Amino acid sequence: MGTKYHQLFHNNQKWVQKKLQEDVHYFQKLAKGQSPEYLWIGCSDSRVPANEITGTQPGEMFVHRNIANMVVKNDMNLLSVLSYAVEVLKVKHIIVCGHYGCGGVLAAMSKKKYGLIDNWLSHIDAVYKIHHNELDAIEDQEARFRRFVELNVTEQVNGLCRTSIVQNAWKAGQDLQVHGWAYDIHDGLLHDLGFTFSKMEEQVVLNQFE
Ligand code: CO
Repeated sequence: MGTKYHQLFHNNQKWVQKKLQEDVHYFQKLAKGQSPEYLWIGCSDSRVPANEITGTQPGEMFVHRNIANMVVKNDMNLLSVLSYAVEVLKVKHIIVCGHYGCGGVLAAMSKKKYGLIDNWLSHIDAVYKIHHNELDAIEDQEARFRRFVELNVTEQVNGLCRTSIVQNAWKAGQDLQVHGWAYDIHDGLLHDLGFTFSKMEEQVVLNQFE
């Protein structure tokens, strides 16, 4: 255990050497500031590393992760990240990325009690309640689980588009697109769930589906 832990520092030193071999000024350039084009809102799951699966480098993606990639409207952590990303960094794309096999979504589906985390999972329960007709009709449990992951992303994108931060950016004519994706931990592939919102009129259309 100890050896494995200390390996993290050896890995870090090797990584620094590799970066400096490629560009001797690499860290000096990064230290000057960041102007990422993307805000990633993903799950905390260790199998879904935002930079690695998208081939993005340090400086290219602003990242927020929590259990089951939730956009909870009174979550000051999420709202602060969103505010800074949209208003200061002026990211062009916000990606809400769920993943098949998500333990948080599965926990909400199983209705078991887990303690403190149940409070957080209640936000996912709320998504199930909205879509229970569609989800209950899916007999195959794995298929229902996958669909729940997708519907959860849909609802989080919906909530994100309704925040005053995103609404104000669109009102001001800011170039900002909101996307819903799902990552499959079984094969490593990202799936665009097929809806992207880039202005208020589209969000009005979205609201009609509620
Ligand atoms: Co997850």
